[in-house]
Amino acid sequence: METNDNQIIIFDTTLRDGEQAPGCSMTLEEKLMVARQLERLRVDVIEAGFPIASPGDFESVREIGRTVAEPIVAGLARCVDRDIDRAAEAVADARNPRIHVFLATSKIHREHKLQMSRADVIGRAVEGVERAAQCVRDVEFSPEDAARTEPDFLRDVVEAVIEAGATTVNIPDTVGYAIPEQFSELIAMLKADVGNIDQAVISVHCHDDLGMAVANSLAALKAGARQVECAVNGLGERAGNCSLEEIVMAIRTRPDYFELTTGVDTHEIMSTSRLVANVTGVRVPPNKAIVGRNAFAHEAGVHQDGILKKKSTYEIMRPEDIGLEHGRLVLGKHSGRHAFRERLNELGIVLTPEQLDHAFAQFKTLADKKKQIYDEDIETLVRDEMEDVPAVFSLTDFHVTSGSSVTPTATVTIEVADDGVKTDAAIGDGPIDAVYRAINRITGLPCDLRDFEIRAITEGKDALGEVRIEVVSHDFIERGRAARTDIIEAGALAYLAAVNRLCQRVKREENRNVKDEL
Ligand code: KIV
Ligand code: ZN
Repeated sequence: METNDNQIIIFDTTLRDGEQAPGCSMTLEEKLMVARQLERLRVDVIEAGFPIASPGDFESVREIGRTVAEPIVAGLARCVDRDIDRAAEAVADARNPRIHVFLATSKIHREHKLQMSRADVIGRAVEGVERAAQCVRDVEFSPEDAARTEPDFLRDVVEAVIEAGATTVNIPDTVGYAIPEQFSELIAMLKADVGNIDQAVISVHCHDDLGMAVANSLAALKAGARQVECAVNGLGERAGNCSLEEIVMAIRTRPDYFELTTGVDTHEIMSTSRLVANVTGVRVPPNKAIVGRNAFAHEAGVHQDGILKKKSTYEIMRPEDIGLEHGRLVLGKHSGRHAFRERLNELGIVLTPEQLDHAFAQFKTLADKKKQIYDEDIETLVRDEMEDVPAVFSLTDFHVTSGSSVTPTATVTIEVADDGVKTDAAIGDGPIDAVYRAINRITGLPCDLRDFEIRAITEGKDALGEVRIEVVSHDFIERGRAARTDIIEAGALAYLAAVNRLCQRVKREENRNVKDEL
């Protein structure tokens, strides 16, 4: 990778740390779609997963390594031989492979989690880096919980792992505890006091528990860090990671202050954000910086007046710089298959020829009902095609009776894979509750509904209604979504989508090799 001293290396961890967040698990197909889009966004490093964690994680890292050409593909590993060997195997086919090894260094982790002395930790870290360096040239080391590690010990660890062959040393604020000024001082101290620091790139990886992940990362860059780890839409463990779009746009918008650049094609930010929201089912809050629906909406009259006179009165970034073109009418009833496929490509969505045929037929049906078709409509239409979760339960039929003077009752018929067609009925507090209870009787899977959301995809009476839900079962959180003109049908399909994901998840967890403690 060619960069100059002021070009920041953008390390995207949406597919690893982001995917670790509850309800964010992605299928292999979804991960590949996101990886291709990250390449189009021109991130420098894609952390594709934690290969030892499960056969599925291994497969994803390997396939991503085979799919993308330009970015470095990193696989995560603990400082344990079998983790490192598995990560090496997973990235072996990548054009630019990296192994990212980590070990906790803070006192609290050493004493309570690892039960290791300072010397043991340094020894294990050095062994891990040396082993990784025998497999690949590009080795990153992370002292987990670095922000709470005693600075003198952190300095010794960093020096030792660089000596052992680490080419990047990442300083994680694992629990989101840091404060910008303090974090910047920590990076400055490492730059000043680690004798061999010029032989490695300093990276930072900040979590957002106190809402300061982006601020801490920026402070670290200002102090000399040259790689930043981040995730699209700020996904990640608990409150998430440093948001990719925020850090990139902060650097781009304030060159006067940071005097830094990135290689990111910012025009791809909006498509990437939407794709990640679609595949994970995690909606972007309307007021989220850069990619929220309201991020460029000016409501107050005085603001609108200013904007009309001169945009820069209230706009510090142009919507088109992140690929946002308001109210863009994308396709209509006369659009052909080629235009449809082109638009999907621009949205980062790649379908197989069969999926494309089906999605195009649905698009034509919708175009007959709806004059104006926007990106959101297209994304909604094809999302079901992208779902490659095996359908253990498929809705065949449903019937609902409801009203102000009758008890809501639902009869549901479901095809169960390898078990034929089953029908059952239930009453509930409302028609959707009755449908869900009837479904539960058939699936036999206890599910608690945690969240239920209905929205119209676009404006107008002809709009598709989308239901998104979140369910919990066996300590797993899963999401489901479906869009139909009939809200109750959309609700039933969304519920079954979540149940099918749960079935896949339970199966996957049975195959899981480690209970990770990141
Ligand atoms: O938050 C963290 O410390 C991590 C490391 C594996 C880098 O995710
Ligand atoms: Zn993390």
